[in-house]
Amino acid sequence: MPTPPRTTATIWDDRYRDPVFAFGTEPNAFLASQRDRFRPGQRALVPGDGEGRNGVWLAGLGLDVVTVDASAVGCEKALKLAADRGVLIDAQCADLNQWAWPVGAFDAVIAIYIHFPPAERPLLHRRMYEALRPGGFVLLESYSPRHLSRRKEGSIGGPPPDMLVTPQDLAGDFSNADMVLLEECEVDLSEGVRHIGRSDVVRMIARKP
Ligand SMILES: C[S@@+](CC[C@H](N)C(=O)[O-])C[C@H]1O[C@@H](n2cnc3c(N)ncnc32)[C@H](O)[C@@H]1O
Repeated sequence: MPTPPRTTATIWDDRYRDPVFAFGTEPNAFLASQRDRFRPGQRALVPGDGEGRNGVWLAGLGLDVVTVDASAVGCEKALKLAADRGVLIDAQCADLNQWAWPVGAFDAVIAIYIHFPPAERPLLHRRMYEALRPGGFVLLESYSPRHLSRRKEGSIGGPPPDMLVTPQDLAGDFSNADMVLLEECEVDLSEGVRHIGRSDVVRMIARKP
């Protein structure tokens, strides 16, 4: 029997079967640093939320949270984390390329380390932007191409090289937005067992006028 091809869902299912949370259970540090932007009752979409650390944190602030991830195992862990924290999230298991993206429905879209193949990225970023209400924002952190040399130095984390993104990529993908923040910077990551050490990332907050 030939082995079936590995998909995003099966790759991440295998990783998330480990009872340890791959990226920990605390929110990403950049997201947490932007806490003042969030208010109870706002609607947030968290594409690629994995095991739910960011969506659950936002729900804890009183937001109405929808998460979408291709990994069913990740979604189950996200729901368990939400239950353990006493909050509710709407965790949907779907490939974002097939998902029925709402339009004009969210105050915030939170894209933390969701890297896409270059052929898919511009359209999926457009879907994120279109999902915003006027005044809403996309908050994003991803690995940048500079990170490649860090791996040789022992840092852990990051997608295949063609999925790394530059500030220029993001400026193009979100060209209709008001760019509140767009920077490439060095950070020390300590996120579970899969993001560790000195890392090069891009950070973006892009607001819909
Ligand atoms: C590096 S993990 C980051 C998880 C989470 N954002 C975090 O920071 O803890 C990337 C996640 O994106 C999801 N993902 C990647 N491509 C996807 C797609 N096309 N549709 C749905 N989920 C996707 C994976 O299943 C995985 O859970």
